[in-house]
Parts: sequence; C-alpha cells; structure tokens
Amino acid sequence: MLHLRLICSILITQISFYSSVIAAKNLDSYSCDSPIYCNGPILKTVQLARIFADSKTFVDMPTVKAEAKVIASFNQLGGTNATKDQVMQFLNENFLPAGTDLKRLTNITIPELKWIDTISDPEYRGWISTLNKAWGNLTFEFDDSALCQDCASSTLPVSRPFVVPGGRFREFYYWDSYFVIKGLLLGDQIDLARNMIENFFDFVERYGFIPNGARIYYLNRSQPPFLTHMVQAYYEKTGDDGFMTKALPILDQEYAHWMANASVRVRDPKRGKNYILNHYVTLNTSPRPESYVEDYNTVNNATHFTDAEKLQMYADIAAGAESGWDYSSRWTKNKAPAANQKESYEMLRTINTANIVPIELNSLLWYTETKLSQWHVLFGNKTKNHEKKAKYYTKQAKVRLSAMEHLMWNQQDHAFYDFNLTSNAQSIQFTPATLFPMWVGALPEKILKNRTEVAKLYDETENALRKYPGILTTSYYNTTMQWDWPNGWPPLSFVAMEGMLRIDDILNKEEYFKNGTLRYKGPQLNTTRGTPISTLARVLAERYAASAYCGWVNTGGSIPGVLEKSNTSVTDDGHMFEKFDVNTIGLSGGQGEYVTQTGFGWTNGIAFWVFNQWPNFTAPDCTQVIQLGL
Ligand SMILES: *[C@@H]1O[C@H](CO)[C@@H](O)[C@H](O)[C@H]1NC(C)=O
Ligand SMILES: *[C@@H]1O[C@H](CO)[C@@H](O)[C@H](O)[C@H]1NC(C)=O
Ligand SMILES: *[C@@H]1O[C@H](CO)[C@@H](O)[C@H](O)[C@H]1NC(C)=O
Ligand SMILES: *[C@@H]1O[C@H](CO)[C@@H](O)[C@H](O)[C@H]1NC(C)=O
Ligand SMILES: *[C@@H]1O[C@H](CO)[C@@H](O)[C@H](O)[C@H]1NC(C)=O
Ligand SMILES: *[C@@H]1O[C@H](CO)[C@@H](O)[C@H](O)[C@H]1NC(C)=O
Ligand SMILES: *[C@@H]1O[C@H](CO)[C@@H](O)[C@H](O)[C@H]1NC(C)=O
Ligand SMILES: *[C@@H]1O[C@H](CO)[C@@H](O)[C@H](O)[C@H]1NC(C)=O
Ligand SMILES: *[C@@H]1O[C@H](CO)[C@@H](O)[C@H](O)[C@H]1NC(C)=O
Ligand SMILES: *[C@@H]1O[C@H](CO)[C@@H](O)[C@H](O)[C@H]1NC(C)=O
Ligand SMILES: *[C@@H]1O[C@H](CO)[C@@H](O)[C@H](O)[C@H]1NC(C)=O
Ligand SMILES: *[C@@H]1O[C@H](CO)[C@@H](O)[C@H](O)[C@H]1NC(C)=O
Repeated sequence: MLHLRLICSILITQISFYSSVIAAKNLDSYSCDSPIYCNGPILKTVQLARIFADSKTFVDMPTVKAEAKVIASFNQLGGTNATKDQVMQFLNENFLPAGTDLKRLTNITIPELKWIDTISDPEYRGWISTLNKAWGNLTFEFDDSALCQDCASSTLPVSRPFVVPGGRFREFYYWDSYFVIKGLLLGDQIDLARNMIENFFDFVERYGFIPNGARIYYLNRSQPPFLTHMVQAYYEKTGDDGFMTKALPILDQEYAHWMANASVRVRDPKRGKNYILNHYVTLNTSPRPESYVEDYNTVNNATHFTDAEKLQMYADIAAGAESGWDYSSRWTKNKAPAANQKESYEMLRTINTANIVPIELNSLLWYTETKLSQWHVLFGNKTKNHEKKAKYYTKQAKVRLSAMEHLMWNQQDHAFYDFNLTSNAQSIQFTPATLFPMWVGALPEKILKNRTEVAKLYDETENALRKYPGILTTSYYNTTMQWDWPNGWPPLSFVAMEGMLRIDDILNKEEYFKNGTLRYKGPQLNTTRGTPISTLARVLAERYAASAYCGWVNTGGSIPGVLEKSNTSVTDDGHMFEKFDVNTIGLSGGQGEYVTQTGFGWTNGIAFWVFNQWPNFTAPDCTQVIQLGL
C-alpha cells in the first residue's frame, strides 16, 4: 500500500510539474486491483510468455476457480519462473476461453429499416438491409452462469444487453457506442439503444465515470465523452422527457469527473490570462493489461529510461488510449519514425499525451456544458437548484469557448488546433479533430458572424479530400501508427460530414440549438476554391459508402438475388472494417498494435446514417479503381 501511494505521489508530482492538474483522481472510488487482470506477477508472467498473438486474449479469460486457488496454482507451477509449457498448463487448468461470460443474444428480432426502399440502388439497398441484420451478430448480454460462484473475470457486469464493436473488441466501448446508437435509432431499435445508454448510466453511478470499455482493466481511464451526444440522439428520436430527467444528475456527475480529474490550467501566452481546459490524463503506472507485451517492450526493451520516465510513459500510453486515438502523431513528439526504427512501438517512446490540450475533447465538453445549461431548464423540476446549475453550465461553456478562441483558434489557417503545453503554443497539424468545434457548434461569435470565415473552415478538409481518393485522412503524417495517414476512421469522417451538413444551421445559432439536428437547407456556403460545403459532405459520404461496401464485397459479401460472391475462393461472408485506407477505396486500414478488426459497430452505424441522408448513391464496380472526385 505504501508502495502504491509512493508511486502515485511520484506520478502526481510528475504530472503537476508540467500541467497542474486540478485534483488527483480519487483512488478510493474505483481502481483496477485484480491480481490476475490488472497488475502483478501472474499477469506479467503469462503475458511475457507470449502464448497468444494478442495480449488481450488472456485478460478476457474468466477463471474456473476462486482467485486464491488460481494464485496457488500459479505458484505451484513455477510462479514467475514458469516455463512456457508450465504457463500453458496453468492457463489450461485455471481459465475458460476469452469471453465465456458474454453471451450473444439469439432471440432478438430486428425490424427491416422503414426507409430501406428510399435507397435507389439495388446493391446498396440489399447491402444495407443485410447490415441491419448484422446487429444480431453483435448484440450480447452479460451472463456468468457458466462460471463458478467465486470465479474471477475481468468483465464489468451490466444488467442490460449491448452491442459490441466486433473482433477482439468483445465487450462494449464508450465512444464506439455513440455511433452504434445512431445506427440503432435509425433502425428503430429504440429499446436496445436505451439499454446501451442505461448501462453507461449505471457505470457512472457505480464508478463515478465511464470507463474506456466494460472491463476491469479499463477502469484507469475513460474515452472521449460522448454520453451527452447519446442522450441527445435518443431524445431526438423519442422525445422522452422522463428519460432526460433521469439523465440529468448522471450527466452532471460525468462532467464533474472530467473537471475533477482531467482538467489543466493553461496560461494564454499572449494575454497572460489563465484558463481551465481538459486533457487526457491517467494515473496508470503499468502496462495496459490488454496490450501488456506491447507496452512492456515500448518502455523496457533496450531502453535506458529512468523509473520516473517509465511511469510517465505508462501514464501517457494509457492517456493516449483514453483519447480513442491510440496511437497518433497528435500525442507523440516525433512525427516520423527514426531511420533505424525496427518496431512501430518505438514511436510511442516519445509519447506525451497529457501535455496536449486536445481540441475535440474540449469541443465535446463544451457541448455537454451547453446542453446541460439548456436541459436543466427544460427537464429540471423548476427548483432553484436547477436554475443555479443552468447558470453554472452557461458560464462554463462561455469561458471554455473563450479559451478555445484565444488558445486554439488559428486565424491564419482558419482552423482550431490542439494546444501543446510544453511549447505553450498550438500544434499546427491538420487532423479531423480540428472539425469537432464545427460539429458541436462551438464557434466564437467573431467567426460565426463572418460567412467568409465560416466557409474557410472546411478548406483544408477539401484539400485532404482532393489529395487522397478515399475517406478523410487522419493526419498527413506517415508514422506507422494507426491514427495517422494512410488510415481513415469512420467516426472522424462522420464528424466531418455531419458538421458540414450543419454548418448553415450553426450560423443560424438560435434555431440550431432549439432544434438540435436539422437537415442542410440554408443558402450555399462555398469553400475558397468555390466548392459548396454540402458537396464536400456528399463526396465524402459517397466515398464512405463505397469504401465500406467494396471492403465487404472484396471479402466475400453477397446479396441473394442481387449480387454473387465476387470471388468464390473467399470463404468469408463479407467484413465491415474498423478503418480504411484513404489511398484505395475498398482496402481496409492497417498498422497499429493489433490486426485490423472486423464487425464493426461504428462502421455499420455510420453506413446507415449515410444512406439515410443520401439514399441515391450508385454502388461502384468494386473490381475497378474507384474515383469519386470533386
Ligand atoms: C525463481 O528462481 C530463482 C533462482 O532459481 C529463485 O531464487 C526464486 O526463488 C524463484 N522464484 C520463484 C517464484 O519460484
Ligand atoms: C432473450 O433472452 C434473454 C435471456 O437470454 C431474456 O432475458 C430476454 O427477455 C429474451 N428476449 C426476448 C425478446 O425474448
Ligand atoms: C452473422 O454471423 C454469421 C455466422 O458467423 C455469418 O454467417 C453471417 O454472415 C453474419 N451476418 C452478417 C450480416 O454479417
Ligand atoms: C490503475 O490504477 C490503480 C490505482 O487507482 C492501480 O492500483 C493499478 O495498478 C492501475 N492499473 C494499471 C493497469 O496500471
Ligand atoms: C527488443 O529490441 C531488440 C533491439 O532493438 C530487437 O532486436 C528485438 O526484436 C526487440 N524485441 C521485441 C520483443 O520487440
Ligand atoms: C510539444 O512541444 C514541444 C516543444 O516544442 C515539442 O518538442 C513536442 O514535440 C510537442 N509535442 C507534440 C506532441 O507535438
Ligand atoms: C428536484 O430535483 C432534485 C434532484 O434533481 C431533487 O433533489 C429535489 O427534491 C426535487 N425537488 C422537487 C420539488 O421535486
Ligand atoms: C471575415 O473573414 C475574412 C476572411 O478571414 C476576413 O478577410 C474579413 O476581414 C472578415 N470580415 C470581418 C467583418 O471581420
Ligand atoms: C511511409 O513510411 C514507411 C515506413 O517508415 C515507408 O516504408 C514508406 O515508404 C512511407 N510512405 C510514404 C508514401 O512516404
Ligand atoms: C426546427 O425549427 C424550425 C423553425 O422554427 C421548425 O420549422 C422545425 O419544425 C423545427 N424542427 C424540429 C425537428 O423541431
Ligand atoms: C457556390 O457554388 C455554387 C456552385 O458552384 C454556385 O452556384 C453558387 O453561386 C456559389 N455561391 C456563392 C455564395 O458563391
Ligand atoms: C432519389 O431518387 C428518387 C428517384 O430516383 C428521387 O425521387 C428522390 O428525390 C431522390 N432523393 C434524393 C435525396 O436525392
């Protein structure tokens, strides 16, 4: 215990050294303390024995006996000196297959999309209809009936069903779920969408925040805060006031968590004023259990870091995972691999997540503040308490927007950038993170009032879409990390598209906030090159559709009566990829710490949104080079 406190206090000193964290995480309210799944000799020995190709497999395996007996068995089989064979025997005798306590729901009925006939192209229509049924393959519930009474498992239990991303991601995740919920709501799967949101409500009540995903080893970090967006999406669909009343105290609590544990004081270098903004930060002090080998090697293999540096690196690695962009040039000091780089994890040795104030995180929290200021008026019970809260959030949003304007807005580039606390200056780098302010509507008055300025906000998006034929690139840096070029990620293209559709609504601020989401209808705003912003959105949407569709067709997707398997030697039935290669429509993205996953929750959810907005795209011939230009 003393040891842990010591480590934590070293870490806190480290963090506050450069970023003056407002308050340390409350170590008593939650923690990853399992001697099997979180930290300690068993985890280390099993993971470093490299029995499984993916470090995540072991930590997803429930035990077949009580924890104390597992520990005894480990010691008996050689403990930390165990040979690879002994580790294998230890696993065989003590563990069940990964995911045994997650059961696919086989009895759900998925209604056909009400708007399926608006999709004019028969291939696209058949594909979207097939995808809608695929929710059935991704819907699970927690069920530990196959486990003994005192068996251990890393799953965070929930009482309601949920949709998982797919592949190695066999539990549900925080920000992924927003895009899944959008798709479910478009398919009138309202109960499942609500169940997913209520599972998150339970997490906030139980842990004080939403962990990265539903595993004990994710309790040291969260993910981009999308809960307010989930609640907004649900309310738009249902108009359920009672749900909003229930959501209010939970959203308050989640917001308070971010402010208490992940805020940072930033001094405006020009004006000397201090602001409070948020960043991704963790008190993690060891390898992420689900990526143990990778992190262990990053920090230890042939390195000369001091212990303090190692602890800091573990914290920043976990913070990078909290960002959802694991990993990206946004968080690393080096923007290109060293000439003699052998392993891609070497890039991560320059990771510095907590020193970056990210534009999308602050946009998301501004949205929470803005929504809560309205919702406490609309759905509170008209008491003084709610009035006070509404005022508080109004002020928080105003101050944050002012901070974003003074620290992150770049007048020359007409863009918002991350703020680097080390250089005390902006990180000048285009990534779709710069599009979040437009998506949530966090635009300072001076920009909002100037149509020329607003139109320029998507100039660089247009450049990126002209440069590469696929969906929007994640950055311009070629780093070997998966949240960089040449990968494009569905949620980032979604934020770009929906932001572009809303840009005119946002100009008409009053209406926008009364309404939430509107369809594009205002006068045309054109980029500096003269391209209507609505055209950019449509081109990106068409590329998104084609990328996901051809990825699916090329991996064996077929539609009875409409489309034969393109290649009969492919035994699979079509994969929806988690990410795409922006250089070639139809290719999945690659790189990163794990093999490319399929399933895939957010890719599917966003595909429904695209076709709901643009039902008239024509399915491409996936055997040809596809060009959907501007
Ligand atoms: C591992 O082996 C070393 C050297 O033989 C021994 O000193 C140590 O006690 C062993 N550790 C365990 C956990 O058995
Ligand atoms: C589906 O099965 C689960 C148990 O696995 C049960 O809780 C649920 O009520 C069932 N749903 C329907 C619609 O039958
Ligand atoms: C669902 O899973 C089954 C079995 O793995 C597979 O055959 C089927 O193609 C999947 N359905 C969809 C729509 O992905
Ligand atoms: C997570 O943090 C807790 C303290 O809150 C610590 O005991 C645990 O070792 C950490 N887990 C990891 C994987 O670092
Ligand atoms: C550790 O580093 C050495 C030297 O760079 C390298 O040869 C080896 O492959 C690395 N091992 C792992 C497991 O990454
Ligand atoms: C932040 O600024 C420092 C100092 O200029 C620089 O060395 C570092 O690379 C920057 N960090 C990131 C993540 O870009
Ligand atoms: C209003 O709601 C708060 C919780 O948000 C509750 O504590 C309070 O009792 C309620 N007051 C009335 C008059 O219903
Ligand atoms: C509006 O923005 C444009 C482009 O940045 C700028 O040239 C112009 O001066 C601005 N207009 C006003 C009234 O501020
Ligand atoms: C990207 O980086 C990889 C590895 O460093 C290199 O092999 C490749 O040539 C680079 N590609 C481009 C287009 O620069
Ligand atoms: C949004 O506002 C406009 C203008 O007040 C109104 O006509 C429209 O019905 C509203 N839409 C929604 C979804 O409330
Ligand atoms: C924007 O571009 C469209 C199509 O090129 C054109 O018709 C329209 O006049 C332009 N609008 C403005 C305000 O320049
Ligand atoms: C799609 O095409 C149909 C008929 O081809 C047309 O009636 C409809 O307006 C089009 N929808 C859109 C959104 O362009």
